[in-house]
Amino acid sequence: MTEKRKSIHGSWSGRLAFILAATGSAVGLGNIWKFPYIAGENGGGAFVLVYLLCIAVIGIPIMMAEVLLGRRGRQSPINTMRTLAQEAGANPLWRWLGGAGVLAGFLILSYYSVIAGWALAYVYRSAAGTFTGATAEGIASIFRQLTGDPERLLAWHTLFMVMTMIVVARGVRSGIEKAVRFLVPALFVLLIMLDGYALAGGAFDQGLRFLFTPDFSKITANGVLIAMGHAFFTLSLGMGAIMVYGSYLPERTSIAKTSIIISLLDTLVAMLAGMAIFPIVFVNGLEPGAGPGLIFQTLPIAFGHMPGGVLFGTLFFVLLVFAAWTSAISLIEPAVAWLVENRRVSRVYAAVYAGVATWGFGLLTILSFNIWAEFKPLSFISIFKDYTVFDLLDYLTANIMLPLGGLLIAVFSVWIMKRDDSLQELDMGDGPGYRLWYALVRYVTPVAVLIVFLNVTGLLDFVGLFGLAEE
Ligand code: PHE
Repeated sequence: MTEKRKSIHGSWSGRLAFILAATGSAVGLGNIWKFPYIAGENGGGAFVLVYLLCIAVIGIPIMMAEVLLGRRGRQSPINTMRTLAQEAGANPLWRWLGGAGVLAGFLILSYYSVIAGWALAYVYRSAAGTFTGATAEGIASIFRQLTGDPERLLAWHTLFMVMTMIVVARGVRSGIEKAVRFLVPALFVLLIMLDGYALAGGAFDQGLRFLFTPDFSKITANGVLIAMGHAFFTLSLGMGAIMVYGSYLPERTSIAKTSIIISLLDTLVAMLAGMAIFPIVFVNGLEPGAGPGLIFQTLPIAFGHMPGGVLFGTLFFVLLVFAAWTSAISLIEPAVAWLVENRRVSRVYAAVYAGVATWGFGLLTILSFNIWAEFKPLSFISIFKDYTVFDLLDYLTANIMLPLGGLLIAVFSVWIMKRDDSLQELDMGDGPGYRLWYALVRYVTPVAVLIVFLNVTGLLDFVGLFGLAEE
């Protein structure tokens, strides 16, 4: 048995704190904003089924792998990978897996923060009663006004980045731990209330049917990739966020149990959100494939017409902001931990450096919604023909960087790391549980990820790539 390393950044107070922090990271815009609109764009049921399968077969095992690597390395993902590669006698280049994660976190946060800014703007609008009695068209126009105005978007994005930098600068422990203890349960309660509203408002069964009746003719190879990418995105996998949280995990906590709990909670939030939103979509004759504006154009309709809607609407968007906040912190933490370890700067400076860089990059996303709305840089590739810079950033990170990162994490933890080491770290005995995990991560996960990738690149054959998008 090797002697145990310690993290210089401290550790969680216990198992519950880790579960809450990791759930805080997992539950975010991905569940409430992104899941419904990509399910809507990709035809509903079949997409949801593929997504759920990916969570079970790929997501949970990889989450266990990430936590185990983090807890064993006890450092930022870059240094953890370096140490563990050394320990396993593997190529030192593995540390770049940590580096790629830091980059992915940076790119994701740059647009994540802009969307979180929308949620901030909506807190303000609901509190002011802007939605009261408004029609679907009125609400759509409020949304267009916001996204059409780069200066307003910039202001909200700036505010959100500052909020994120403040928490990260203070250290993760007391701030986040305390916040998520209250916020995660509150979010559940509010979502259930919204489901109640959707249930009473009619078209609930149509919403359920849309979400849960798989029609495989509606899903494409690219849709499957998007579902898989989203499984990584929503569980915060493949870029080191869960790894760095795992590095603060106390010794004796069960990695398998906590990973399963976190994944189930995350999935539950996504389902509750979908069940609240689609009935509202159908009752109001809106388009399920409306894109990134979907929840901002549907939920305010409900708030605008329910008793106490001003209060509930405000609360809902406050919680959405908090859900995004606890995720944003984990997106930037790998970079901050690394700066503290390697550049010998204080957390405050580390947070400012990483935050300012991310903030600046966020301008690309802001412009994608207005001045650059018609700028489609890769329009010569058929599947990207309608993609703005923001869409491309999202696609690159969620559907390519995270699954590739996850694939390499899987490969490292069962092909490179000694079996005895993962056995000891997972601490569940050499029984069926461990063996199932081992087999999934060793064979199923890499093969599944590769198949999905190959399928999509098959679509991007030379004709698709250079032979122009079909009009
Ligand atoms: N899981 C978060 C969400 O669903 C996003 C995220 C991705 C956070 C990757 C950290 C790392 O919103």
